[in-house]
Amino acid sequence: MSELAILVTPGDGIGPEVTREALRVLQWGADEAGIRLHLEQRDFGGASIEACGVPATDELLKRATEVDAVLLGAVGGPKWDHLPRDKRAETGLLSLRSAMGVYANLRPAKIFASLVDASPLRADLAAKVDYVVVRELIGGLYFGEPRGLSGALGARTGINTLRYHEDEIRRIGRRAFALARQRKKKLCSVDKANVLETMQLWRAVVSELANEFADVALSHMYVDNCAMQLVLDPGQFDVIVCENLFGDILSDEASATTGSIGLLPSASLGENSALYEPIHGSAPDLAGQDKANPLAAIMSVAMLFAHTARRTDIAARIDSAVAAVLADGKRTSDLLRGSQAGTTRVGTRQMGDAVLAKLAQH
Ligand code: IPM
Ligand code: MG
Repeated sequence: MSELAILVTPGDGIGPEVTREALRVLQWGADEAGIRLHLEQRDFGGASIEACGVPATDELLKRATEVDAVLLGAVGGPKWDHLPRDKRAETGLLSLRSAMGVYANLRPAKIFASLVDASPLRADLAAKVDYVVVRELIGGLYFGEPRGLSGALGARTGINTLRYHEDEIRRIGRRAFALARQRKKKLCSVDKANVLETMQLWRAVVSELANEFADVALSHMYVDNCAMQLVLDPGQFDVIVCENLFGDILSDEASATTGSIGLLPSASLGENSALYEPIHGSAPDLAGQDKANPLAAIMSVAMLFAHTARRTDIAARIDSAVAAVLADGKRTSDLLRGSQAGTTRVGTRQMGDAVLAKLAQH
């Protein structure tokens, strides 16, 4: 690939700050790989509500399907929380994912050796965190119809629907099996088949796929047990595949076990489109103070090189630079937990500088 068109949506809160650092790393990687970058930036989420009255304009949604990839910061904030659901910043993100058709959300959780101490897990367990949550992203409880709120005060009802067609389960299942094949060949499908019909279908369809992927060991786990196993015995997991809301919840839990939610990148992939974003939110309380951790955004750029630019070599160098900076003891405030011997507190910009300095060394 010699050219890359990237739509950048920094969004709200800490989004712009972490995206700024990620863009420096993107530029480094492009120069290194001889790729010409075409960057376009748009308001998104709350910023777009302010500028255009909607969290995602039709123009943005259309453009997102034309570029090679979208790089997103974070969306949302208290300022827009009171708005009706269709006007909220988060709804813009869901519309974007849906418009782009990015059904497979890959959230790798891997502990850095130098951060074992920052994990709330016991060191021997924390050291084993190395798996990917594959979250179905454009169906399930987030999108199911009917949905809504009705009734007067005292008689109000809220409805959401957990609905999957078997084709939706099959395509996410296939992605997860294919990913497991490139890793330790273990896939754990997470469901709630003991209670929900949708999840019985989920289990049946994933089981049928096992014939196509005979070299991958498939297991099934109920989501409540999975939430427990992620902290009791994280070393048992390689690839986890699950429904949208389950993946939202489990991936936050996963990130905490790596030391901070500021460390998990993500790639959301469709057949022909890709969206890269850190899994963390807009953290309004940290915004504008140069305190946010840019590493999840930077590692999302690494995922962009791996999946969109097909330059796993560049991706690996970015990930190594991040590991090296952490090994040097550089810590944003979210990472200052456990023993702080040999660590230095740095801000968002300094963390970006440190990663770029490592990249320049090789
Ligand atoms: C995530 C976030 C989003 C989600 C929010 C901001 C809508 O929590 O990417 O995990 O729920 O998907
Ligand atoms: Mg989430």
